[in-house]
Amino acid sequence: VIIVGDSNYRPTYHFTPEKNWMNDPNGMVYYKGEYHLFFQYNPDDNVWGPMHWGHAVSEDLVNWEELPVALYPDDLGNIFSGSAVVDEHNTAGFKTGNEDVLVAIFTHQNPETKEQYQSLAYSNDMGRSWEKYGENPVLINEDKDDFRDPKVIWHEETQQWVMVVAAGQEILFYSSPDLKEWKYLQSFGHGMGAHGGVWECPDLFTVRNENGQEQWALLVSINPGAPNGGSGTQYFLGAFDGETFQTSQTETKWLDYGTDNYAGVTWSNEPNDRNLFIGWMSNWEYAQDVPTTAWRSAMTLPRTLELSDSGDLLLSKPAEEISSVLASHNVEFNASEVEIQDNPVLKSGTFQIRTTLDLSEEKSVELFWGNGTSGVSIHFDKTTSEILIDRSDAGYNFKNMNNNDLVVPYILPESNELELEIWVDKSSVEVFVNGGERVITFLIFPNTPFDDFKIRSNSGEEFVRSLSILPVSKD
Ligand code: FRU
Repeated sequence: VIIVGDSNYRPTYHFTPEKNWMNDPNGMVYYKGEYHLFFQYNPDDNVWGPMHWGHAVSEDLVNWEELPVALYPDDLGNIFSGSAVVDEHNTAGFKTGNEDVLVAIFTHQNPETKEQYQSLAYSNDMGRSWEKYGENPVLINEDKDDFRDPKVIWHEETQQWVMVVAAGQEILFYSSPDLKEWKYLQSFGHGMGAHGGVWECPDLFTVRNENGQEQWALLVSINPGAPNGGSGTQYFLGAFDGETFQTSQTETKWLDYGTDNYAGVTWSNEPNDRNLFIGWMSNWEYAQDVPTTAWRSAMTLPRTLELSDSGDLLLSKPAEEISSVLASHNVEFNASEVEIQDNPVLKSGTFQIRTTLDLSEEKSVELFWGNGTSGVSIHFDKTTSEILIDRSDAGYNFKNMNNNDLVVPYILPESNELELEIWVDKSSVEVFVNGGERVITFLIFPNTPFDDFKIRSNSGEEFVRSLSILPVSKD
């Protein structure tokens, strides 16, 4: 028996810090060939503690180089979540050299009073070293205990910076010409969306579809209150004119129906004009208990967020660069059942499964991978329009979760096709359904390798139209 240990839980093509605790992605910004990823980091322990900004860079979104800690706690407090921008026109006046200046806008949290306020830091050497602004904080709000996670964007039409920042169960909007002086614009959230917990880590950006339709998207993370328990991310589609965000959306929409995608936001200054997103692949209910010791937590795959053709959904797709780590291509076939055993690709724990299922004649189908005693099952029930995921026998009992069963509402399109793209990386699973109409991200901690695989249904029809199980390997 091969026992899968701690080191085998570390993902290979997802970002993890070399050691210790990580939560939210922060300050994602692209500058001169480098995707910067900062993150909530405790360099001294593998549980949450005094927060710093850890730092990593990547040229290809697959290989990450961890750099020294970028921001340390100071007299004003610990360094909570926030964003970063390239201040191309030097609006804040922090530029000293030839490089454009990068400015980070983050929350300081006073560990004694718990007060939270927004501050600045800047870098004139491509993000390698950071200086805090001498007149921090730049934005305080006396009536709010929870006032954090500023995300700043440049609003082209009005030629100003716009900040969205979480306050209790609302998102506050501010504008600024120079990142230092902020003018209050509006509060959003009262009577809108899910309110099962505190609102955190907002993001604001435009999305377009192929019909030329454009919408503004507002992401809001919420803890607890996610559809499958604990922390999760909802979104609103609407209009924003530089002053007011408005939406006619009445139902709550979730960016990811899995348990493990939180506090995600998009990159600033993305060179290909994509909404490039990354989230923290864990859940506050159990993040500090999961069975890894040297390091704790990984980020999701980088994903692009797009507007669906129907104009009412945010689609999530793995960033194109990720496909570069696949070894081979799709296999066409017809089968009424698939059963694979002792498969070396599955055994490696890092693979991608892609399958197209024709559900015209089926009531329900099940996809399973695991071994004799444990595994993960993904079940689609056409009669109830639900995807059911069972990870109760996937090696670990996640605290405070509903039997570790995930329930995801999903109505099959008229084609009756269910296309699943499943990315597994040792201890994480990301399921993309029908081109990103649903995403379900969740953790597993197998005790022994999962090297068997099955797809089956009740009908005996040939419903499996394509299947590939591909190794994922980086160079
Ligand atoms: C979200 C969050 C943020 C906060 C940070 C602290 O996970 O609670 O609201 O800034 O984590 O680490």
